[in-house]
Amino acid sequence: MSKYDILPTISTSFIVLSAILVAIGWNLAIKRKLEAHKKVMLAGAVSALLFFLIYMSRTVFVGNTDWGGSDEMKPYYLTFLFFHIVLATVGAVFGLTTLTLAFKERFAKHRKWGRITSVIWFFTAITGVMVYVLLYLMYPGGHTKPVLDVLFGGG
Ligand code: HEM
Repeated sequence: MSKYDILPTISTSFIVLSAILVAIGWNLAIKRKLEAHKKVMLAGAVSALLFFLIYMSRTVFVGNTDWGGSDEMKPYYLTFLFFHIVLATVGAVFGLTTLTLAFKERFAKHRKWGRITSVIWFFTAITGVMVYVLLYLMYPGGHTKPVLDVLFGGG
């Protein structure tokens, strides 16, 4: 594993952790263990936030990694990556809405949004792991370049 692969490994672990916490939190809500539900969901949200912070700092300071596989496969990979990014973005907006509804104690709405948010988050985690496997395990070797270098030259 190169030094470039350490941060994505950590950030992908945080998406997986947050999806596991959301699954546990959902189960706790169904069992009406609501205080525990709150704590576990907040831990899930913190874990998602850590993923985002690591991912963004890597994008700016280290860079994004290009597709390392064949040219024929590249459009499929990019389509899949796009799908994952859309899911993650929608999941983040739904997650913030779900949290806001909970803190405003609008629990009937929170419950409806929470179910959709959780399902979106499961798919975000699954597709995130698949992107990680494709980019770093199955087809390693793509070039990594910081956004700052792309914008201002150098590197
Ligand atoms: C992003 C984080 C959260 C998600 C994804 C989430 C998700 C959910 C889901 C899916 C349910 C419905 C369970 C079911 O019946 O199928 C639920 C219920 C509930 N959640 Fe959350 N939750 C989150 C955070 C919170 C927080 C921070 C609180 C407390 C401030 C909270 C309080 C509740 C309560 C009281 C219910 C029961 C609502 C009812 O049955 O009327 N949740 N949540």
